[in-house]
Amino acid sequence: MDGHKKDYILNIHQSRKIAIQSGLLSVVVVALCTTSAVHAQDLSVTQGRRIAEANCSKCHAVGKFGDSPLPIAPPFRTLHLKYPVEDLEESLAEGITTGHPTMPEFRFESDQVRDFIAYLKSLETR
Ligand code: HEC
Repeated sequence: MDGHKKDYILNIHQSRKIAIQSGLLSVVVVALCTTSAVHAQDLSVTQGRRIAEANCSKCHAVGKFGDSPLPIAPPFRTLHLKYPVEDLEESLAEGITTGHPTMPEFRFESDQVRDFIAYLKSLETR
């Protein structure tokens, strides 16, 4: 094999390697972006659960299992059976009032609404 041919082969190998590396890099970048979106979603769900536990769990079952401490208060995991949980956004922001006197009125900040809805969605088992 003469010197030139060897160089040529080496060059091909070199550029293949670069192509593979940049391919890998974009895979990594895409993966990172996806995980951070998922991560933000997780944070939202965690926040939403905190809100529910702090404010609502006295009466409502707020988790995946169990009955409501106050039997007439619907468990949160069943809400989506009656209507899409997104429908609650408006009433949460404006102050939720149900006809029932035992339920105090709540008013959520808009990021609390988002977190709370994210949490309710996480309870929906499909
Ligand atoms: C003091 C008890 C109590 C607390 C605390 C409470 N609820 Fe309720 N909630 C009730 C009762 C009782 C009902 C059933 C009302 C009815 O059927 O008339 C209810 C119903 C609901 C409904 C269903 C309304 C519908 O139209 O189907 C939602 C949604 C709800 N509550 C959200 C919340 C949220 C969010 C919190 C916490 C921020 C909360 N509740 C805290 C007692 C409570």
